Amino acid sequence: MKIERDFHMVKGDGETSYAKNSRMQRRAILVTKPIVEKAIRGVCTDLQPQSMVIADLGCASTPNTLLFVSEAITTVCENTSNTVAACPMEVQFFLNDLPSNDFNYIFQSLEKSKQSTAQDCARRGLQPPPPHYVAGVPGSFYARLFPCNSVHLFHSSFSLMWLSQVPERLDGSMNEGNIHIAATTPPLVARLYRDQFETDFSRFLQMRCSELVPGGRMVLTILGRQRDEVVTAGGMTTALELLAQGMRTLVAEGRVDKEKLDSFNLPMYNPSADELKRLVKQSELLAISDIQLVETSWNPMDDDDSEPAEGGAGAEAAGRSISSSLRAVLESLIVSHFGDSILDELFAALARNITRHIKSEVEKTTLTIISLSLQEGIHRQ
Ligand SMILES: C[S@@+](CC[C@H](N)C(=O)[O-])C[C@H]1O[C@@H](n2cnc3c(N)ncnc32)[C@H](O)[C@@H]1O
Repeated sequence: MKIERDFHMVKGDGETSYAKNSRMQRRAILVTKPIVEKAIRGVCTDLQPQSMVIADLGCASTPNTLLFVSEAITTVCENTSNTVAACPMEVQFFLNDLPSNDFNYIFQSLEKSKQSTAQDCARRGLQPPPPHYVAGVPGSFYARLFPCNSVHLFHSSFSLMWLSQVPERLDGSMNEGNIHIAATTPPLVARLYRDQFETDFSRFLQMRCSELVPGGRMVLTILGRQRDEVVTAGGMTTALELLAQGMRTLVAEGRVDKEKLDSFNLPMYNPSADELKRLVKQSELLAISDIQLVETSWNPMDDDDSEPAEGGAGAEAAGRSISSSLRAVLESLIVSHFGDSILDELFAALARNITRHIKSEVEKTTLTIISLSLQEGIHRQ
């Protein structure tokens, strides 16, 4: 499995598409809004750029990235209305994802989104939106994407828990019967995952520090974990364990080779807040302005963040909806390893497993929102 070649969210806007199954990720953008607003106000006030450059990393093919663009523009308008002199006249957005991402889907929705942002500003009595431009940047965020000193704000939501690769030394049946870090995962495997995350996240920070202007900001929302204990990330990782359960059933039925399952490991790690703080400190260039842990329902349909209904139809609907949202993210990786013949059956089994799990236990998932600024006056390479 090669991430840069094989990994993409389900394209377009069909029933199984990421665009139609990314409500949980949308909720994360709404939760982060006050922190993003604060970062933009900080850039406007401290740096007063003529043109502000904002990049969304891991934008996917969903209206979520345009919701972020719209929130950012509205914040700039609010700022323009209050302090005319301190504001940028133009904003350049760069939307980044891996090359196989469905960028076209986003760009086709752009005009409509611009119109609704303008209407929103007018309704609220704000200045009209400043001229703003949106461009796509294909490539891995673990490599350089922008020229030195060129970006004022980096934003990334629900993307940085994806590793650049499955840990290199994790091969064969080292993580037998599992697809991620689970209760029966040997400590060595968990350590390989953690080491890969440390390498990747440190590299990400290093790349972005070169690209940020001094005083620039980053707001990163990562699917993390509450506790230090690496196997108890809860929420989405429970869903991955229930997916592995579905795969083990297919192995028992002779539909999937055991070796195929044993050699499948997801390139994902959910860091704790302490791990993130340590890696940021090690970078020696960034200051943490804010770090928050937010518990949110793992059910995409829980827009008001209420507990998913226990038992009966509520649990069944939640099972289906969590399964669909996972399929929209994982389908390409599963197809590249197992082929597409097991997809429908596997995700139907996942929906049933989640329904059963919800009837006995209600799960939350942890988002870690970390806001960083590049310290001025520090020498960078
Ligand atoms: C779950 S989606 C989140 C998308 C979007 N930010 C949202 O909030 O809906 C994660 C995205 O990260 C992207 N991604 C993963 N690894 C990446 C990398 N190394 N470089 C760029 N994008 C990456 C994936 O392709 C995917 O589109």
